[in-house]
Amino acid sequence: MTKYFKINEDKMKAIIYTTYGPPEVVQLKEVDKPVPKDNEVLIKIHATTVNRTDCGFRSAEYFIVRFFSGLIRPKNETLGNEFAGKIEAIGKGVKSFSPGDKVFGYNDTKFGAHAEYMVMAENESITTMPENISYDEAAPITEGAHYALCDIRAAKIKSGQKILINGATGAIGSAAVQIVKNLGAEVTAVCDTKNIDLVKSLGANVVIDYTKEDFTKINQTFDVVFDTVGKSSFGKCKPLLKKEGIYMSTELGYMSQNPFLALITPLLGGKKVLFPIPTINKADVVFLKELVATGKFKPVIDRSYSLEQIVDAYRYVETGKKTGNVVINVVNKIN
Ligand SMILES: NC(=O)c1ccc[n+]([C@@H]2O[C@H](COP(=O)([O-])OP(=O)(O)OC[C@H]3O[C@@H](n4cnc5c(N)ncnc54)[C@H](OP(=O)(O)O)[C@@H]3O)[C@@H](O)[C@H]2O)c1
Repeated sequence: MTKYFKINEDKMKAIIYTTYGPPEVVQLKEVDKPVPKDNEVLIKIHATTVNRTDCGFRSAEYFIVRFFSGLIRPKNETLGNEFAGKIEAIGKGVKSFSPGDKVFGYNDTKFGAHAEYMVMAENESITTMPENISYDEAAPITEGAHYALCDIRAAKIKSGQKILINGATGAIGSAAVQIVKNLGAEVTAVCDTKNIDLVKSLGANVVIDYTKEDFTKINQTFDVVFDTVGKSSFGKCKPLLKKEGIYMSTELGYMSQNPFLALITPLLGGKKVLFPIPTINKADVVFLKELVATGKFKPVIDRSYSLEQIVDAYRYVETGKKTGNVVINVVNKIN
Protein backbone atom coordinates (compact mmCIF):
# COMPACT_ATOMS: atom_id res chain seq x y z
CA MET A 1 0.00 0.00 0.00
CA THR A 2 1.38 3.45 -0.90
CA LYS A 3 2.56 5.62 1.98
CA TYR A 4 0.98 9.03 2.25
CA PHE A 5 2.53 12.10 3.88
CA LYS A 6 0.19 14.71 5.25
CA ILE A 7 0.50 18.10 3.56
CA ASN A 8 -2.79 19.87 4.13
CA GLU A 9 -4.90 20.46 7.28
CA ASP A 10 -8.14 20.16 5.27
CA LYS A 11 -7.14 16.70 4.11
CA MET A 12 -6.86 13.40 5.93
CA LYS A 13 -5.82 9.78 5.41
CA ALA A 14 -8.72 7.42 4.84
CA ILE A 15 -9.24 3.89 3.63
CA ILE A 16 -11.34 4.02 0.49
CA TYR A 17 -13.16 1.34 -1.50
CA THR A 18 -15.02 2.14 -4.66
CA THR A 19 -15.95 -1.39 -5.68
CA TYR A 20 -17.11 -4.49 -3.77
CA GLY A 21 -14.59 -7.31 -3.55
CA PRO A 22 -11.72 -8.96 -1.68
CA PRO A 23 -9.52 -7.21 0.95
CA GLU A 24 -7.34 -5.71 -1.79
CA VAL A 25 -10.14 -3.37 -2.96
CA VAL A 26 -9.43 -1.04 -0.04
CA GLN A 27 -6.75 1.61 -0.48
CA LEU A 28 -5.17 4.31 1.65
CA LYS A 29 -5.94 7.69 0.08
CA GLU A 30 -5.92 11.38 0.83
CA VAL A 31 -9.45 12.79 1.02
CA ASP A 32 -11.20 15.89 2.34
CA LYS A 33 -11.49 16.05 6.12
CA PRO A 34 -15.20 16.04 7.05
CA VAL A 35 -16.79 19.23 8.38
CA PRO A 36 -19.33 18.80 11.21
CA LYS A 37 -22.87 20.08 10.66
CA ASP A 38 -24.62 22.03 13.45
CA ASN A 39 -25.71 18.82 15.23
CA GLU A 40 -22.46 16.91 14.66
CA VAL A 41 -19.09 16.41 16.32
CA LEU A 42 -15.77 15.99 14.52
CA ILE A 43 -13.80 13.09 16.01
CA LYS A 44 -10.07 12.53 15.63
CA ILE A 45 -9.99 8.74 15.44
CA HIS A 46 -7.33 7.07 17.58
CA ALA A 47 -8.47 3.45 17.21
CA THR A 48 -11.00 1.53 15.17
CA THR A 49 -11.52 -2.14 14.31
CA VAL A 50 -11.85 -4.40 11.30
CA ASN A 51 -14.75 -6.71 12.00
CA ARG A 52 -17.16 -9.04 10.25
CA THR A 53 -19.56 -6.17 9.56
CA ASP A 54 -16.83 -4.33 7.61
CA CYS A 55 -16.04 -7.57 5.75
CA GLY A 56 -19.72 -8.08 4.88
CA PHE A 57 -20.11 -4.56 3.49
CA ARG A 58 -16.76 -4.64 1.66
CA SER A 59 -17.32 -7.97 -0.06
CA ALA A 60 -21.12 -7.71 -0.49
CA GLU A 61 -20.96 -11.49 -0.39
CA TYR A 62 -24.60 -11.44 0.71
CA PHE A 63 -26.39 -9.52 -2.06
CA ILE A 64 -28.87 -8.09 0.47
CA VAL A 65 -26.05 -5.83 1.75
CA ARG A 66 -26.24 -3.88 -1.52
CA PHE A 67 -29.77 -2.70 -0.70
CA PHE A 68 -28.22 -0.74 2.20
CA SER A 69 -24.82 0.18 0.81
CA GLY A 70 -25.39 0.69 -2.92
CA LEU A 71 -26.65 -1.68 -5.60
CA ILE A 72 -23.74 -1.34 -8.06
CA ARG A 73 -21.00 0.29 -5.99
CA PRO A 74 -20.60 1.35 -2.36
CA LYS A 75 -22.13 4.73 -1.61
CA ASN A 76 -20.09 5.22 1.59
CA GLU A 77 -16.50 4.83 0.44
CA THR A 78 -14.91 4.54 3.88
CA LEU A 79 -15.79 1.58 6.09
CA GLY A 80 -15.15 1.25 9.83
CA ASN A 81 -18.10 1.09 12.21
CA GLU A 82 -16.43 1.11 15.64
CA PHE A 83 -14.34 4.04 16.79
CA ALA A 84 -12.60 5.58 19.78
CA GLY A 85 -11.11 9.03 19.60
CA LYS A 86 -11.11 12.61 20.76
CA ILE A 87 -13.58 15.33 19.82
CA GLU A 88 -11.78 17.99 17.87
CA ALA A 89 -14.67 20.32 17.00
CA ILE A 90 -18.42 20.55 17.55
CA GLY A 91 -21.30 21.99 15.54
CA LYS A 92 -22.94 25.09 16.99
CA GLY A 93 -26.03 23.15 18.14
CA VAL A 94 -24.12 20.46 20.04
CA LYS A 95 -24.77 20.54 23.80
CA SER A 96 -23.60 17.21 25.24
CA PHE A 97 -20.00 17.04 24.00
CA SER A 98 -17.05 19.43 24.10
CA PRO A 99 -13.77 19.54 22.23
CA GLY A 100 -11.26 17.31 24.03
CA ASP A 101 -13.85 14.70 25.16
CA LYS A 102 -12.69 11.12 24.67
CA VAL A 103 -15.53 9.25 22.97
CA PHE A 104 -16.35 5.87 21.45
CA GLY A 105 -19.27 4.44 19.54
CA TYR A 106 -20.68 2.74 16.50
CA ASN A 107 -21.92 3.69 13.04
CA ASP A 108 -23.09 1.08 10.54
CA THR A 109 -25.25 3.40 8.48
CA LYS A 110 -22.54 5.73 7.17
CA PHE A 111 -19.44 3.94 8.59
CA GLY A 112 -16.34 6.18 8.17
CA ALA A 113 -14.07 5.13 11.08
CA HIS A 114 -11.25 3.78 8.89
CA ALA A 115 -9.91 7.31 8.63
CA GLU A 116 -8.17 9.97 10.65
CA TYR A 117 -11.44 11.85 11.24
CA MET A 118 -15.16 11.13 11.16
CA VAL A 119 -18.33 12.98 12.08
CA MET A 120 -21.20 11.70 14.20
CA ALA A 121 -24.48 13.39 15.08
CA GLU A 122 -24.67 14.15 18.78
CA ASN A 123 -27.74 11.91 19.25
CA GLU A 124 -26.27 8.89 17.42
CA SER A 125 -24.53 5.87 19.01
CA ILE A 126 -21.70 7.77 20.68
CA THR A 127 -20.80 8.49 24.29
CA THR A 128 -17.79 9.38 26.41
CA MET A 129 -15.24 6.64 27.07
CA PRO A 130 -15.22 4.81 30.40
CA GLU A 131 -12.48 6.13 32.71
CA ASN A 132 -9.09 4.44 32.74
CA ILE A 133 -9.27 2.53 29.48
CA SER A 134 -7.23 3.14 26.36
CA TYR A 135 -8.55 4.02 22.90
CA ASP A 136 -7.56 0.52 21.78
CA GLU A 137 -9.72 -0.97 24.53
CA ALA A 138 -12.66 1.35 23.83
CA ALA A 139 -12.84 0.85 20.06
CA PRO A 140 -14.00 -2.81 20.17
CA ILE A 141 -16.76 -2.31 22.78
CA THR A 142 -19.75 -2.10 20.46
CA GLU A 143 -19.82 -4.34 17.37
CA GLY A 144 -19.84 -7.87 18.75
CA ALA A 145 -21.52 -6.79 21.97
CA HIS A 146 -24.52 -5.09 20.34
CA TYR A 147 -25.21 -8.15 18.18
CA ALA A 148 -24.96 -10.30 21.32
CA LEU A 149 -27.20 -7.91 23.24
CA CYS A 150 -29.94 -7.95 20.58
CA ASP A 151 -30.17 -11.74 20.73
CA ILE A 152 -29.88 -11.90 24.53
CA ARG A 153 -32.70 -9.36 24.88
CA ALA A 154 -34.85 -11.09 22.25
CA ALA A 155 -34.55 -14.41 24.11
CA LYS A 156 -35.21 -12.62 27.44
CA ILE A 157 -32.31 -14.52 29.03
CA LYS A 158 -32.49 -14.37 32.80
CA SER A 159 -30.88 -15.58 36.00
CA GLY A 160 -30.93 -19.33 36.57
CA GLN A 161 -31.33 -20.30 32.91
CA LYS A 162 -28.94 -22.67 31.13
CA ILE A 163 -27.45 -21.14 27.98
CA LEU A 164 -25.15 -22.77 25.42
CA ILE A 165 -22.97 -20.37 23.42
CA ASN A 166 -21.21 -21.76 20.35
CA GLY A 167 -18.27 -19.72 18.99
CA ALA A 168 -17.43 -18.27 22.41
CA THR A 169 -14.16 -16.80 21.10
CA GLY A 170 -15.64 -14.62 18.34
CA ALA A 171 -16.42 -10.92 18.84
CA ILE A 172 -20.09 -11.77 19.38
CA GLY A 173 -19.48 -14.96 21.36
CA SER A 174 -16.90 -13.50 23.74
CA ALA A 175 -19.26 -10.60 24.51
CA ALA A 176 -22.24 -12.96 24.83
CA VAL A 177 -20.49 -15.18 27.39
CA GLN A 178 -19.74 -12.17 29.60
CA ILE A 179 -23.16 -10.51 29.30
CA VAL A 180 -25.12 -13.74 29.81
CA LYS A 181 -22.97 -14.65 32.83
CA ASN A 182 -23.62 -11.24 34.33
CA LEU A 183 -27.35 -11.81 34.02
CA GLY A 184 -26.88 -14.75 36.38
CA ALA A 185 -27.40 -17.50 33.82
CA GLU A 186 -25.27 -20.64 33.62
CA VAL A 187 -23.06 -20.63 30.53
CA THR A 188 -21.82 -23.63 28.59
CA ALA A 189 -19.39 -22.30 26.00
CA VAL A 190 -17.97 -24.01 22.91
CA CYS A 191 -14.47 -23.14 21.67
CA ASP A 192 -11.28 -24.89 20.60
CA THR A 193 -8.54 -26.30 22.85
CA LYS A 194 -6.24 -23.26 22.82
CA ASN A 195 -8.92 -20.93 24.18
CA ILE A 196 -10.40 -22.99 27.01
CA ASP A 197 -8.68 -20.92 29.73
CA LEU A 198 -9.69 -17.66 28.07
CA VAL A 199 -13.33 -18.68 27.84
CA LYS A 200 -13.34 -19.81 31.49
CA SER A 201 -11.86 -16.41 32.42
CA LEU A 202 -14.80 -14.74 30.62
CA GLY A 203 -17.14 -16.56 33.00
CA ALA A 204 -18.15 -19.82 31.31
CA ASN A 205 -19.26 -22.46 33.81
CA VAL A 206 -18.63 -25.35 31.43
CA VAL A 207 -16.44 -25.40 28.31
CA ILE A 208 -16.81 -27.83 25.42
CA ASP A 209 -13.77 -28.24 23.14
CA TYR A 210 -15.18 -28.45 19.63
CA THR A 211 -12.08 -30.23 18.36
CA LYS A 212 -12.88 -33.12 20.72
CA GLU A 213 -16.65 -33.16 21.05
CA ASP A 214 -19.63 -32.27 18.85
CA PHE A 215 -21.76 -30.04 21.10
CA THR A 216 -24.94 -30.97 19.22
CA LYS A 217 -24.55 -34.55 20.46
CA ILE A 218 -24.23 -33.89 24.21
CA ASN A 219 -26.86 -35.33 26.49
CA GLN A 220 -28.10 -32.11 28.13
CA THR A 221 -30.82 -29.54 27.56
CA PHE A 222 -30.70 -25.75 27.54
CA ASP A 223 -33.12 -22.84 27.69
CA VAL A 224 -31.22 -21.19 24.84
CA VAL A 225 -28.69 -22.35 22.26
CA PHE A 226 -26.98 -19.26 20.80
CA ASP A 227 -24.73 -20.14 17.85
CA THR A 228 -22.73 -16.94 17.49
CA VAL A 229 -20.71 -18.28 14.55
CA GLY A 230 -23.58 -19.89 12.65
CA LYS A 231 -22.02 -23.34 12.38
CA SER A 232 -25.09 -25.38 13.43
CA SER A 233 -28.79 -25.56 12.57
CA PHE A 234 -32.12 -25.59 14.43
CA GLY A 235 -32.62 -29.19 13.30
CA LYS A 236 -29.32 -30.33 14.81
CA CYS A 237 -29.78 -28.32 18.02
CA LYS A 238 -33.43 -29.21 18.66
CA PRO A 239 -32.57 -32.19 20.92
CA LEU A 240 -30.52 -29.77 23.07
CA LEU A 241 -33.46 -27.46 23.69
CA LYS A 242 -35.84 -27.67 26.65
CA LYS A 243 -39.58 -27.85 25.85
CA GLU A 244 -39.90 -24.11 25.18
CA GLY A 245 -36.22 -23.66 24.34
CA ILE A 246 -34.89 -21.04 21.92
CA TYR A 247 -32.34 -21.44 19.09
CA MET A 248 -30.55 -18.36 17.72
CA SER A 249 -27.84 -18.07 15.08
CA THR A 250 -25.90 -15.11 13.69
CA GLU A 251 -25.98 -16.59 10.19
CA LEU A 252 -28.92 -17.01 7.82
CA GLY A 253 -28.32 -20.79 7.69
CA TYR A 254 -28.71 -23.26 4.83
CA MET A 255 -31.07 -21.73 2.21
CA SER A 256 -31.72 -18.78 4.60
CA GLN A 257 -33.71 -21.06 6.86
CA ASN A 258 -33.15 -19.14 10.10
CA PRO A 259 -35.20 -16.00 9.32
CA PHE A 260 -37.89 -18.23 7.79
CA LEU A 261 -37.96 -20.50 10.88
CA ALA A 262 -38.12 -17.40 13.07
CA LEU A 263 -41.40 -16.49 11.37
CA ILE A 264 -42.93 -19.97 11.54
CA THR A 265 -41.73 -21.65 14.78
CA PRO A 266 -43.12 -19.06 17.28
CA LEU A 267 -46.60 -19.71 15.80
CA LEU A 268 -46.33 -23.46 16.38
CA GLY A 269 -45.52 -23.38 20.13
CA GLY A 270 -42.70 -25.30 21.82
CA LYS A 271 -39.10 -25.01 20.66
CA LYS A 272 -38.51 -21.97 18.47
CA VAL A 273 -36.01 -19.97 16.43
CA LEU A 274 -35.45 -16.26 16.98
CA PHE A 275 -33.66 -14.09 14.43
CA PRO A 276 -33.85 -10.49 15.67
CA ILE A 277 -32.81 -7.66 13.35
CA PRO A 278 -29.80 -6.07 15.08
CA THR A 279 -30.21 -2.47 16.21
CA ILE A 280 -28.11 -0.06 18.23
CA ASN A 281 -28.72 3.39 19.69
CA LYS A 282 -27.10 5.77 22.13
CA ALA A 283 -28.74 4.06 25.12
CA ASP A 284 -27.16 0.75 24.09
CA VAL A 285 -23.71 2.35 23.85
CA VAL A 286 -24.19 3.96 27.27
CA PHE A 287 -25.33 0.56 28.62
CA LEU A 288 -22.17 -1.11 27.25
CA LYS A 289 -20.04 1.70 28.68
CA GLU A 290 -21.50 0.96 32.12
CA LEU A 291 -20.75 -2.75 31.74
CA VAL A 292 -17.13 -1.92 30.89
CA ALA A 293 -16.82 0.71 33.63
CA THR A 294 -18.07 -1.74 36.27
CA GLY A 295 -15.80 -4.55 35.07
CA LYS A 296 -18.70 -6.68 33.82
CA PHE A 297 -17.56 -6.66 30.20
CA LYS A 298 -14.09 -6.44 28.68
CA PRO A 299 -13.78 -6.78 24.92
CA VAL A 300 -11.28 -9.47 23.98
CA ILE A 301 -8.50 -8.11 21.74
CA ASP A 302 -6.67 -10.49 19.46
CA ARG A 303 -4.14 -8.23 17.73
CA SER A 304 -3.60 -4.75 16.30
CA TYR A 305 -2.63 -3.35 12.92
CA SER A 306 -1.84 0.15 11.66
CA LEU A 307 -4.11 1.89 9.15
CA GLU A 308 -1.50 1.18 6.48
CA GLN A 309 -1.76 -2.56 7.24
CA ILE A 310 -5.54 -2.73 6.93
CA VAL A 311 -5.54 -5.17 4.00
CA ASP A 312 -3.68 -7.65 6.22
CA ALA A 313 -6.22 -7.00 8.98
CA TYR A 314 -9.08 -7.83 6.58
CA ARG A 315 -7.31 -10.99 5.42
CA TYR A 316 -6.87 -12.12 9.01
CA VAL A 317 -10.47 -11.35 10.06
CA GLU A 318 -11.70 -13.32 7.05
CA THR A 319 -9.89 -16.45 8.16
CA GLY A 320 -12.77 -16.80 10.66
CA LYS A 321 -10.09 -17.50 13.27
CA LYS A 322 -9.78 -14.23 15.16
CA THR A 323 -10.13 -14.36 18.93
CA GLY A 324 -12.44 -11.51 19.85
CA ASN A 325 -11.51 -8.30 18.07
CA VAL A 326 -8.92 -6.88 15.68
CA VAL A 327 -7.95 -3.29 16.43
CA ILE A 328 -6.59 -0.70 14.00
CA ASN A 329 -4.34 1.96 15.52
CA VAL A 330 -5.05 5.11 13.54
CA VAL A 331 -2.90 7.37 15.68
CA ASN A 332 0.62 6.13 16.14
CA LYS A 333 0.82 5.44 19.89
CA ILE A 334 4.30 6.97 20.11
CA ASN A 335 2.88 10.41 19.19
N1 LIG B 1 -22.52 -10.17 7.39
C1 LIG B 1 -22.35 -9.33 8.39
O1 LIG B 1 -22.49 -8.12 8.26
C2 LIG B 1 -21.96 -9.88 9.73
C3 LIG B 1 -21.67 -8.99 10.75
C4 LIG B 1 -21.27 -9.49 11.97
C5 LIG B 1 -21.19 -10.85 12.16
N2 LIG B 1 -21.53 -11.71 11.17
C6 LIG B 1 -21.40 -13.14 11.36
O2 LIG B 1 -21.47 -13.48 12.71
C7 LIG B 1 -20.56 -14.53 12.99
C8 LIG B 1 -19.73 -14.18 14.19
O3 LIG B 1 -18.98 -13.00 13.99
P1 LIG B 1 -17.78 -12.72 14.97
O4 LIG B 1 -17.12 -11.47 14.55
O5 LIG B 1 -18.22 -12.90 16.35
O6 LIG B 1 -16.93 -14.00 14.56
P2 LIG B 1 -15.44 -14.16 14.46
O7 LIG B 1 -14.84 -13.33 15.50
O8 LIG B 1 -14.98 -14.03 13.07
O9 LIG B 1 -15.35 -15.69 14.90
C9 LIG B 1 -14.16 -16.28 14.93
C10 LIG B 1 -14.14 -17.22 16.10
O10 LIG B 1 -15.04 -18.31 15.84
C11 LIG B 1 -14.44 -19.49 16.30
N3 LIG B 1 -14.90 -20.64 15.53
C12 LIG B 1 -14.67 -20.88 14.24
N4 LIG B 1 -15.25 -22.05 13.88
C13 LIG B 1 -15.85 -22.52 14.99
C14 LIG B 1 -16.62 -23.69 15.25
N5 LIG B 1 -16.89 -24.58 14.31
N6 LIG B 1 -17.10 -23.85 16.50
C15 LIG B 1 -16.84 -22.96 17.46
N7 LIG B 1 -16.11 -21.85 17.27
C16 LIG B 1 -15.62 -21.63 16.03
C17 LIG B 1 -12.97 -19.29 16.06
O11 LIG B 1 -12.27 -20.03 17.01
P3 LIG B 1 -10.99 -20.90 16.59
O12 LIG B 1 -10.13 -20.08 15.72
O13 LIG B 1 -10.38 -21.20 17.89
O14 LIG B 1 -11.58 -22.06 15.88
C18 LIG B 1 -12.77 -17.79 16.27
O15 LIG B 1 -12.33 -17.47 17.57
C19 LIG B 1 -19.75 -14.76 11.74
O16 LIG B 1 -20.25 -15.93 11.13
C20 LIG B 1 -20.03 -13.57 10.90
O17 LIG B 1 -20.01 -13.84 9.54
C21 LIG B 1 -21.87 -11.25 9.95
